[in-house]
Amino acid sequence: MATPSQIRATMPAGKSTNGDEDGIFGWYRYVQDFTAEFASQWITSLAEPGMLLWEPFSGSGTAQIAAKQLGVSSVGYDLNPFMVDVAKTKLDWGLDVRDLRRSLSALVKKCNSLAKNEPSDLERGSWTKYDDEAALDAANYPDDVKLARWISPLVLQRIQAVGRAIDRSPLRHQNFMRLALASTVVPASNMALRPNICYESRPILDFPVARSFAARLEKMYDDYLEVAGTSVVTAQVHLGDARHAGPDYADFIFTSPPYPNDMEYIHQTRLELALLNYVSNAKDLTRIKKQMISSSVKLVYRENAWQKSLGLRSSAVKRAYDSLALTLEGKNWGWNAADMVAQFYGGMTKVLENWKHRLRADGTAAVVIGDSAFNGVKVASDLILAEVAEGIGFEVKEIEVFRERHNSKHDVNLRESVVVLINRKPAT
Ligand SMILES: C[S@@+](CC[C@H](N)C(=O)[O-])C[C@H]1O[C@@H](n2cnc3c(N)ncnc32)[C@H](O)[C@@H]1O
Repeated sequence: MATPSQIRATMPAGKSTNGDEDGIFGWYRYVQDFTAEFASQWITSLAEPGMLLWEPFSGSGTAQIAAKQLGVSSVGYDLNPFMVDVAKTKLDWGLDVRDLRRSLSALVKKCNSLAKNEPSDLERGSWTKYDDEAALDAANYPDDVKLARWISPLVLQRIQAVGRAIDRSPLRHQNFMRLALASTVVPASNMALRPNICYESRPILDFPVARSFAARLEKMYDDYLEVAGTSVVTAQVHLGDARHAGPDYADFIFTSPPYPNDMEYIHQTRLELALLNYVSNAKDLTRIKKQMISSSVKLVYRENAWQKSLGLRSSAVKRAYDSLALTLEGKNWGWNAADMVAQFYGGMTKVLENWKHRLRADGTAAVVIGDSAFNGVKVASDLILAEVAEGIGFEVKEIEVFRERHNSKHDVNLRESVVVLINRKPAT
């Protein structure tokens, strides 16, 4: 267990709660994510010349972009295929700018003609009317992904028209264009991310999709000019499970796994996954969800029961599980936070074992993680992770707390920390 001397409270740049940063970082972000500055500070403190960063939960690529700006090579993995393409696109600084400009100009021209049939601003309606309208039966929705309430049929058609124009553009620029479309999708939909997912209070019936998309493209192009050709270090991103995948060798890890706090990353990106054809039905979505680290009560699956048993081998996890199970007994309403926490740490045990094997001897793994609470029971995620890691043979160098706030709903203080682990293994 981490001793008090290993726990430090500092407030470096911190984590943002939204993605409104400028430049490439802001092209597409999760609602909750660490800032570029936060990642830069940590990578600067961990990297030495020639080192390779491994980002096992690369998401939108914040750590890898920060590394690239600092001249540090990186390799990243994520299980969400859409996010893998997001990160790849943000990290591809080798496109010829004049060639890109030509393709974008042709697409913007096409968008200008599509925009002639669009409203000048978004148009809202009422849910009663929205649900009543036969529009919900419109044939255009991708099979069985249950999108009808999330996006109006008219908006969907506008997105599909832009999508077809992208499909006719040069292949080498399509990822760039698709990312601009992805970041247009949520504002045009009835999905509100706050950071939990809910519906807008009034549904959006129509939206100037082509116009907003063209503006996004221009903004991205301006950002791109700032970075084009500025870095020669490699930055790869792969589709892969953090519990098994990884490079043969890495010098250090800087990452943020999901927190066991009910954030559902696949649900958050379901519109993009469906509208950009990464999934074609609800089964595809569920298949990916089942592989994710179990960070939400809605991501507890029978098939992953082995993760619960594995998690419960740690006494810290067992204590958290018991106190959740006791408090929540009879109050689960079908959702089981105790099982979720046990499955979460079982999954993280697999992740840590994978790191142990691939990270160099005495290499550092800096893990950004936050507490959670259920029915007033606090889960001290950082301390539990530290104890699990110690059981696998990591040394806990320190736990740096960078944010703490009072959660009035549960009347507990919840904090976010960076757990700094050293891979103590005999050099081979
Ligand atoms: C906290 S987010 C990472 C955010 C990231 N720092 C960024 O810049 O966007 C956690 C990520 O872990 C991914 N994830 C969850 N389970 C995974 C697994 N088993 N293997 C790989 N990635 C996983 C999710 O898709 C999500 O992108």
